[in-house]
Order: sequence, then C-alpha cells, then structure tokens
Amino acid sequence: MKVHVTDHPLIAHKLTVLRDERTDSPTFRRLVEELVTLLAYEATRNVRTRPVSITTPVTQTTGIKMADPRPVVVPILRAGLGMLEGMSKLIPTAEVGFLGMVRDEKTLQASTYANRLPDDLSGRHIFVLDPMLATGGTLISAFHYLINLGANDITAICILSAPEGIAAVEKEFASSNVPITIVTGALDEKLNEHGYIVPGLGDAGDRLYGVV
Ligand code: URA
Repeated sequence: MKVHVTDHPLIAHKLTVLRDERTDSPTFRRLVEELVTLLAYEATRNVRTRPVSITTPVTQTTGIKMADPRPVVVPILRAGLGMLEGMSKLIPTAEVGFLGMVRDEKTLQASTYANRLPDDLSGRHIFVLDPMLATGGTLISAFHYLINLGANDITAICILSAPEGIAAVEKEFASSNVPITIVTGALDEKLNEHGYIVPGLGDAGDRLYGVV
C-alpha cells in the first residue's frame, strides 16, 4: 500500500482554517471542496491515459487523453459527499458511485447501509472519497466491498488521517494484490478514546451538514 501525505503550503493553510472550531459550515464546505481538488491533483497522478492525434491551429501533434473505461469516484456517505464537487471539477467525466457506510460510535465498527455502484468494477480506477481516516474501519469495509465487485486499482482521498487508521488498512491489505493508495492532506497525531482524530477537526459530517 502506498501512502502519500501531501506537503504544500496552500493545503496546510486551508487545513488550518478547516480545523478551527470557529469556521462555519459554508466556509467549511468550500474549503473541503478546494482541498479535494488539490489532493485529487496528486491522487490522479497515475490515472490511465492513451495517446491521441490532434490538429492544433498550427500543426498536427500527439497528446494524451484519459483512457476508457473512465475512473469511478465513490464518495462514502455522508461526509464523503462533501468531497464530490471538488473531485468532479478535476475529472468531470468520471462515473460516480455511492457507498453508504455508518460506524457504530460504541464499537467503532463500520457497516454498509446503501450502495449504488456498477456491478463490475474490474479495469476501473476507483477513487474513494472519505474525509477522515480514523480507525480505518470504514475504509477497510469499503475496500473489501469494492474488491468483491472486481476493483483492482483503488485510491482513497482523505483530508486527515490518523496513524492508527493507516496502520489498520495497511495490515488488512498487506497480502492483497490489489494496488491501494491513500492520499491524505495530513497525518495527525493519534485517535482519542472516542475514535476522533487528534488534533483533527471534529465530526466532518456535522461540520459539513450540521447535526441531524
Ligand atoms: N470521523 C470524523 O468525522 N472525525 C473524526 O475525527 C473521526 C472520524
């Protein structure tokens, strides 16, 4: 498994505003969108391409375009939905699937409550959107679900990650032959006893959409 922790002053600046408890929901949503576009730039570095011939106003040349089949972007509901717009800006032609996962706040176990995905994901580059990689439970369940549908190239984009979560995902898929990459805006210090990332930003879903 590859883990890429971004190192860019613009990302660090936006993350700092995002973490601040005084940042309101509209600003939080806009920052998440901007951050995802920046993280997605890194996450799509190995997106599959094909050579194409084009004619410019001056001459003929060869360029590259994204190869078919198009990638599939999978936001994990509900907080991952806040990342979709930022990703779609970068790859507007990607297909979008949805995976609804909820974690039990006592056991911290994740379970699937909804999904809308193509039946066969083989040959597709999958981009999973989940803002907080905390215990790793949600991503582990999501990756198993996607691999069962044939996914064989998965990249997760997370705004923040905890070392415990990265270690758990790494351990779970250590012997998997599916290439897995995690691109994250920051690797925080630890998880607290409630499974929250420290220093973190609190509950990403609540901060995006309010407490419902
Ligand atoms: N989910 C969140 O929204 N925040 C955390 O800190 C951990 C999991």
